[in-house]
Amino acid sequence: MNCKPKSLALVIVVTLLSNVQVNAQDLTVLPVVASKHGDTKEKVELGKKLYFDPRLSATGTVSCNSCHNLMEGGDDGRATSMGVDGLTGPRNAPTVWNSAFQASQFWDGRSATLEEQAKGPMVADVEMGMLGHDQVISRIKDIPGYISEFEAEFGKGDGVTIENAVDAIAAFERTLITPNSGLDRYLAGDKFAMSDGQVRGMDLFESSGCTECHFGPAMNGWRPGSDAEFTEFPRFVESPFVQQFDLAADLGRSSATGDDADEHHFKTPTLRNITLTAPYFHNGRVSSLAEAIQLMASTQLDVEFTSEEVADLTAFMEALEGEFPNLSLPRLPSRSGESVIHASVKARPSDQG
Ligand code: HEC
Ligand code: HEC
Repeated sequence: MNCKPKSLALVIVVTLLSNVQVNAQDLTVLPVVASKHGDTKEKVELGKKLYFDPRLSATGTVSCNSCHNLMEGGDDGRATSMGVDGLTGPRNAPTVWNSAFQASQFWDGRSATLEEQAKGPMVADVEMGMLGHDQVISRIKDIPGYISEFEAEFGKGDGVTIENAVDAIAAFERTLITPNSGLDRYLAGDKFAMSDGQVRGMDLFESSGCTECHFGPAMNGWRPGSDAEFTEFPRFVESPFVQQFDLAADLGRSSATGDDADEHHFKTPTLRNITLTAPYFHNGRVSSLAEAIQLMASTQLDVEFTSEEVADLTAFMEALEGEFPNLSLPRLPSRSGESVIHASVKARPSDQG
């Protein structure tokens, strides 16, 4: 239901009557634009093609969209992702929606930018499985339509480079934002944009301490210009959830930095559209949002919520579903009568039976 306040006076009365103390520092409206200078329409369109093109994988079967499905929550709904040849990796695929609103990428924050991040999956064995970026570039160059598009955007000569490819993919990713959720409309003054339960959930989210880590527009501890936040997870190791879901196995950020002090630290993930991205956590072991909330209370705050409180927090999470842009599928440049997928030269574990 989309109730609009009848008049400004009504808004003021409702605001005064409600007990809601929204701390503007903690919860802020999601910006409606994330594009950077130089993200031209053509560059975004080229990035979109590369994002959807499975020919950037060794087997011609896996695209970015295979694991970050934009028709849905921007993830793959699996505990851990499956790449070429059915190989699976160790971690859960985070959403790409709103990934522009974070100062580092991956659960352990090992890439500082979307551009740097996009170089990883193409050459990861368990993802797109290419032997190296050279192979990615020669695959793209096998498709004549791409050469002209790269040259139109990046200049003639050597336009087809990995740097330009990830520049385009990142420009496209910066368009993947979902503003105008119930929370955003509520924060902008529409007090009817969230239900009573959602408002109670928001209050509890702040008063119980979730916003110590989940603050800012994407609720991931990021603010424009700030560094990424990494926090210890699990913080209270005596929590029964730690054993139950094997939460201490992954060393997190220390595997990226080599610094023992970073052991078991993870980037605080966004909670925008969290209802759409089960299963949860870096290992994808927790299948329901209600359980994920109970787990956070236990492992991060050492508290236990009543079932009503869990219901209110879950309702609040529903208010974080934003508006998704209408995307049309790109038409990919054609093969011009030649196959570009050749038998992989690398012997893979699965090939060896
Ligand atoms: C086989 C599945 C798979 C494919 C294919 C894949 N990804 Fe990912 N992606 C993942 C997983 C799993 C992670 C988390 C890995 C980690 O943190 O160690 C991830 C992380 C990310 C992140 C970081 C998000 C965050 O919140 O930290 C972005 C952005 C991203 N991928 C974009 C892409 C792009 C762009 C492509 C295509 C070039 C791509 N991915 C291809 C599975 C995949
Ligand atoms: C001390 C920091 C901290 C606090 C406090 C905290 N979180 Fe988290 N939250 C994290 C980190 C870090 C992760 C990622 C954990 C991992 O590696 O899987 C996370 C993950 C989550 C996830 C799963 C996200 C996903 O994509 O899988 C949810 C849901 C969540 N938090 C909700 C909450 C709620 C609700 C509260 C308050 C009861 C809360 N958090 C308190 C740091 C925190």
